[in-house]
Amino acid sequence: MQVLVYKDAATIAKAAAAIFAGEIAKKDGYVIGLATGSTPVPTYQELIKMNKEGVLDFSKVISYNLDEYVGLEPTHPCSYRYFMNEQLFDHINIDKNNTHVPNGITCNAEEYEEAIKAAGGVDLQLLGIGSDGHIGFNEPAEDFVYPTNIVKLTDQTIDDNARFFNSRDEVPTSAISMGIGTIMSAKRIILIATGKNKAKAIAAAIKGPVNPAMPASILQMHQNVQFLLDEDAASEL
Ligand code: F6R
Repeated sequence: MQVLVYKDAATIAKAAAAIFAGEIAKKDGYVIGLATGSTPVPTYQELIKMNKEGVLDFSKVISYNLDEYVGLEPTHPCSYRYFMNEQLFDHINIDKNNTHVPNGITCNAEEYEEAIKAAGGVDLQLLGIGSDGHIGFNEPAEDFVYPTNIVKLTDQTIDDNARFFNSRDEVPTSAISMGIGTIMSAKRIILIATGKNKAKAIAAAIKGPVNPAMPASILQMHQNVQFLLDEDAASEL
């Protein structure tokens, strides 16, 4: 596990985008795993910029997103499919047929897991982290859940994500998410965390015991993982 601390989110975004560019150039059919939420947005802006400048080609890239809210149509403005189109896919030369986000209506967990395997697995997985330590939507629990599955969101996650909805009541209470095993099967992982509200989860994930009560702690067992942190997120290390 490598922990890299940067001065701010903009610098992290440049570093993360450079990692993506280096990896994607390695082969046609490179598989990226993508996250939603606020944290990856600056990285997506960098990727868009590099694509527009002609230095990063997505035409042969395949993507799988981590998760989707149960009950939201892909066209719903708060769905993660909508988010990905708006924040990244609509602005780069990726073939939309090669982009995959779990479907929150059909909740095709097994099918999603099989599709990732059939694509050869994720080559580079981008992660954020919840203030409760979740990765994807794998919430603190008694056991790690390995395959893609349906997850009940914690009150903390619903509170945190209410900012994207008109009111807290509109936040779905469950999600379909790649499981801990799906995430751990990625060949390389980068986790980005920015801001003081992530500091406790980051410290526990990196320094604490590996424990399903702190889902991100499982990353200590991965062979090729980098944490890209700003000073606030690293402040309790
Ligand atoms: C989103 C996801 C979540 C987020 C996490 C942090 O696809 O899988 O684990 O990465 O909730 O969200 P932000 O970045 O909004 O703080």
